[in-house]
Amino acid sequence: MTAQDKGVVIVTGGASGIGQALAQGLLDEGWRVLGIDVQPDRIDAARREMLAADTSMLRFAQADVTDETAISEIVQDCEAAFGPIVGVVNSAGIARDIPCLDTEVDIFRQILEVNVIGSFVVARAAARHMRARQAGSIIFIASVSGMRGNQGRVAYGASKGGVVTMTQVMAVELAQHGIRVNAIAPGPIETPLTQVVHTPEVRSTWESRVALRRYGRPDELRGTVGWLMDESRSSYVTGQIIAVDGGFTAMGLPGPWQQQAGTA
Ligand code: NAI
Repeated sequence: MTAQDKGVVIVTGGASGIGQALAQGLLDEGWRVLGIDVQPDRIDAARREMLAADTSMLRFAQADVTDETAISEIVQDCEAAFGPIVGVVNSAGIARDIPCLDTEVDIFRQILEVNVIGSFVVARAAARHMRARQAGSIIFIASVSGMRGNQGRVAYGASKGGVVTMTQVMAVELAQHGIRVNAIAPGPIETPLTQVVHTPEVRSTWESRVALRRYGRPDELRGTVGWLMDESRSSYVTGQIIAVDGGFTAMGLPGPWQQQAGTA
């Protein structure tokens, strides 16, 4: 790694939505990016959409984040052939909106497996290399649904609540190795995932509960990720859950303008 070379950031779920936007933001700020995603067609599309000016800056690997062996090999290969891993953004995730009494145990397990265990598998594999260099920044993408009791989110919310606690535990344990661990809890963000999961009713309810009264854009998370990734700007920040949510978690009584326009 040269003085100008900022090193490699792994972005899981990097071929869609929030992950893709964050991968692009990191590329724009001079990081090299290794995207990991399970969907080959999404990877092909993202490769075309993202074509970095310098193609040596962007790679993709196809893998399921819950596959421990595959992730360990990808991380090894990255260290050997692409560059030292200085950061991780864990954006791969799945969501379902189902009332708790209708939630099957199988889907609950599946959501926990990807959102909690998968995020852990990638973070642990990268942190084992970061430890040797006594530096690194790990960012989990949690959710406001891991901080509040949002209806329909018994499995998804529990998984993101697990991510919140995992962030705090890993921050405490890895501080001795110079590795900072934080989470971003987005509010509703316009992505392929919300286009599938959010019905028109769900959408208008969210809009009435967000102080800014709109969905966020994936690129509106870039600043927080760039700041957390940059040791020179956030060196004393670890173990934090930062809500980037248009004011959703802050909102109690709505202001008159939210009430007038409110639909829920
Ligand atoms: P998305 O569906 O657009 O992108 C998720 C990506 O993760 C997809 O490319 C998918 O192929 C990949 N992925 C899913 N399971 C995987 C696995 N097992 N292994 C590897 N890759 C896998 O979703 P979106 O909206 O970009 O969400 C990204 C993250 O942000 C998720 O963790 C989600 O829970 C979280 N989030 C999203 C919010 C939103 O409103 N869109 C709000 C709060 C959190």
